[in-house]
Amino acid sequence: MSRYEAFVARKREHILRALDDACQATGLSGLDDFELEHEALPDIDLDEVTLASRLLGQPAPTPFYVAGMTAGHPDAAKINRLLARACERRGWAMGVGSQRRQLSATRADAELDQWAQLRAEAPALVLFGNIGLSQIIGTPIHYLQDLVTSIRAQALAVHLNPLQECMQPEGTPQFRGGRAALQALCAELGVPVVLKETGCGFSARTLRSLEGIGLAAVDVSGLGGTHWGRIEGARAANTPGAGMQAQAAETFRNWGVSTAQSVIHARSTLPRVECWASGGVRSGLDAAKLIALGAERVGYARPALEAALAGEEVLDRWMAQQEHELRIALFCSGCIDPASLRLRHAAMMANTYFTWRRHSRERGNPEGFCFSKSGSLAGMTQGTRLRQARGFPRSRE
Ligand SMILES: Cc1cc2nc3c(=O)[nH]c(=O)nc-3n(C[C@H](O)[C@H](O)[C@H](O)COP(=O)(O)O)c2cc1C
Repeated sequence: MSRYEAFVARKREHILRALDDACQATGLSGLDDFELEHEALPDIDLDEVTLASRLLGQPAPTPFYVAGMTAGHPDAAKINRLLARACERRGWAMGVGSQRRQLSATRADAELDQWAQLRAEAPALVLFGNIGLSQIIGTPIHYLQDLVTSIRAQALAVHLNPLQECMQPEGTPQFRGGRAALQALCAELGVPVVLKETGCGFSARTLRSLEGIGLAAVDVSGLGGTHWGRIEGARAANTPGAGMQAQAAETFRNWGVSTAQSVIHARSTLPRVECWASGGVRSGLDAAKLIALGAERVGYARPALEAALAGEEVLDRWMAQQEHELRIALFCSGCIDPASLRLRHAAMMANTYFTWRRHSRERGNPEGFCFSKSGSLAGMTQGTRLRQARGFPRSRE
């Protein structure tokens, strides 16, 4: 099997495994642990509710995006084109999958045609390029700029996937120098840089270390949905000589910071950087909860893939469903748009946070706060709250 054939086979297997429920960290997103407060007397009509929001400082029709997924092979090209057309039509943004192969493509490669075609079919789509942190280390910026230019991307997403790199039989867990490379990229690239995880989220410590490096947004992509430790573990189980990775994948099957907790971390550590939330978002109500926690945008990967594989009509219906559910959540919270929901809860959280910080300092507890199941905000140690929550067997930080 040639290297290209092996690459295509790997990407196909990723898609199949991502559709397998056993590779989903279902129940661990943290979103079931709180409810939005019901407003029995919203002083608005449902018709007045709008999903209009902002994206990197520009107006956007919805706060939704399809998170970057597999690229660089014929099957993915079809899926990406379907997603691109649907996103453009409905006012969603879209990330492409890793453009790593494009870094080594020659001008004649089908790889480049694929991107040109995608852009030609959706000229007004807000699109994000995608590349891994390991690839930006040591790559001259103008090559990365070419990736952006080739699809006329509005931003470049740099993905982090340390767990996957450890579990993947072909993995490249080389991250040394990553922060400096990221800082140089933010300073020199012609478009905003978005840093994203791929399903394991962000701790407050990681986010604090990114302060001031010039990121425009962080897509937390937390624990609770597609889990690359599980996907690579399942692949390793069928790969001769990869028994150790398969066993490690089982040990780390719940590794990561939940999406809800990652958004809370992002809001408290990087208040001036846009917070995007993906990872286990499975309904418009999930999206509303993340917006209430402080996210500016909400993204879906696996559910969008599943809908796209079922065809254009199913995809369109699924997108309309997410929008409808978010509208209901806004209306029943008495909020006219996503920004109102975010601001209302931000004020509640700020109060709780500061009250609780004072309280915890007095008691010498580590910092932390969370929504309580009863719908109010309650301060407590992250560990205690998360361990109590359904599906959190042990502390992960
Ligand atoms: C089939 C598949 C391929 C993916 N490929 C990429 C990728 O190339 N680059 C990237 O940044 N994230 C990639 N992701 C991760 C998603 O962008 C997202 O962070 C993650 O799947 C969590 O979202 P979900 O729970 O809605 O699937 C991929 C996800 C899936 C399902």
